[in-house]
Amino acid sequence: MEVVILSGADEIASLAADVFVALLSRKPDAVVGLATGSSPLGVYASLIERHSAGDVSFVGVKAFLLDEYVGLPAEHPQRYRSVIGEVIEQHVDFAPGAVRGPDGNAADLPAACARYEAAIAAAGGVDVQLLGIGTDGHVGFNEPGSSLSSRTRVKTLTSQTRADNARFFPAAADVPRHVLTQGLGTISDARHLLLVATGLGKAAAVRAMVEGPVSAFCPASVLQLHQHVTVLLDDDAASSLALGDYYRETYAHKPAWQGL
Ligand code: F6R
Repeated sequence: MEVVILSGADEIASLAADVFVALLSRKPDAVVGLATGSSPLGVYASLIERHSAGDVSFVGVKAFLLDEYVGLPAEHPQRYRSVIGEVIEQHVDFAPGAVRGPDGNAADLPAACARYEAAIAAAGGVDVQLLGIGTDGHVGFNEPGSSLSSRTRVKTLTSQTRADNARFFPAAADVPRHVLTQGLGTISDARHLLLVATGLGKAAAVRAMVEGPVSAFCPASVLQLHQHVTVLLDDDAASSLALGDYYRETYAHKPAWQGL
């Protein structure tokens, strides 16, 4: 796991966008994994700018969302499939149908989850998966207790996650309890995991993910088992790390040819 501590959200967004631009320049038909929530917004803004500048095209790219609320109507602004349209899809040149998410309105949710897994596999698997982390250590919506080898399925949100996400809804009670999420096994199949986190509110979860035991109690700790993980943090999110100075020193002296 490579931990990179940067000066702030802008630098994180720009470096994360570099990862996607580099991927799409060497593999224009790549498969990317997209996250929602606040953390990736700067990354998407940076990618939109790079697209406008002619540096990157998504025309041959397929994208898969990490997760979706169950039961939000198609026109609901917080449906993740709609959010991703607003924050990136409509501003770049994805082909129609290239961006997919799990169907939180399916009559048969387990069947929809199985179809989603099959679609990711049929696309050849995810090249770079963008991730945020929840204050309780979730990635995707894999809440504490999630099997480290889980696949896409229905999960129940913790009250902590529902409270964290209440800012997106008119009232806290409006946050759905149930979600569909790629499993930790599904996420771990991606070839490169790129996690971004900012702010003091994420510091404890980041410490547990990076330096704690690998445990279903902190689902993000499964990233310790993956061969290619990049964690981009600001000083606040990194503030509880025991080896923060070492991560800074390592990145400062990293040979440029290594890339991320
Ligand atoms: C969203 C997702 C979640 C968020 C996490 C952090 O698709 O998978 O794991 O990344 O809840 O959310 P923010 O970035 O809003 O703090």
